[in-house]
Amino acid sequence: MKPTLHQLRVFHTVASLGSFTRASEALHLTQPAVSIQVKQLENVIGLPLHEHVGKRFSLTGAGHAVFLAAKEVRDRLDDLGEEIAELKGLKRGRLKVSVATTAGYFATRMLAGFARSYPEVSISLDVTNRERLLAQLENNERDLVIMGEPPAGKDLEFQPFLDNPLVIIAAAGHELAGAEQISLEALRGRPFVVREPGSGTRAALERVFAENEITVASVMELSDNESIKQAVQAGLGLAVASRHTLDMELQTGRIVILSVQGFPIVRHWYLAKRTGKQLSPIAQLFEAFVMCSGGEYSTL
Ligand code: PGA
Repeated sequence: MKPTLHQLRVFHTVASLGSFTRASEALHLTQPAVSIQVKQLENVIGLPLHEHVGKRFSLTGAGHAVFLAAKEVRDRLDDLGEEIAELKGLKRGRLKVSVATTAGYFATRMLAGFARSYPEVSISLDVTNRERLLAQLENNERDLVIMGEPPAGKDLEFQPFLDNPLVIIAAAGHELAGAEQISLEALRGRPFVVREPGSGTRAALERVFAENEITVASVMELSDNESIKQAVQAGLGLAVASRHTLDMELQTGRIVILSVQGFPIVRHWYLAKRTGKQLSPIAQLFEAFVMCSGGEYSTL
């Protein structure tokens, strides 16, 4: 068995930051997921790679050697991407990407990062809801799509690259604000503003409430996250929203996240394409870019 690139990347991050917790934040993985990758790498290498001296994290001799190798591999792959791009004359061309409405909160910055590396690539970005994304994939209209969990059995290939925690939000002065561990039962019958049918956020909300046999009063249906947040602030009701959409409102204290049992629902963002799709060289580069660096554009 050989170390995988993912194991090396995770270990490199842990060793650079000297902490499993900080590495899990930087990589947008859970701490157990990070620990498992490091454990598996230690099994493959056959020696411990780190030790705790008192509370301090430190590398063993083998850990140092693996850290240096992981750094070289990473640097070399970065260079290779650039070299191949040059060789293929990839600095030009068109990339067609669609992203879920909610993913728009980080995807635009991510595309800007990609555009800085490949300034002559022209990018067409469509921000739309889950249902439309699935139709676009089926009709082969886009190179790649960023969406919440794609359905099984649809001839799609997809890879997760970022967490998407869904939380319940309320206006700052709401009676439940500040309460701990609110039960789902306490939400029964309460007014909610909800996303339009076809939204992945809405589907997740409906699934959780149905599983727990909770019915809420859906008082308004809105097709974008900004309007949902406005409605919540105006006191129309509670809502389920992706944590990715809330930066500004949490900073200004206009919206609060309620502490509700079973929340956040942790979903993921996936990069999806049709099974067997022949990606253009530019789309291949974008795929590699998202899988390697997509997490860096998250505000979580
Ligand atoms: P959406 O988000 O609610 O904007 O469609 C996609 C998803 O969470 O699946």
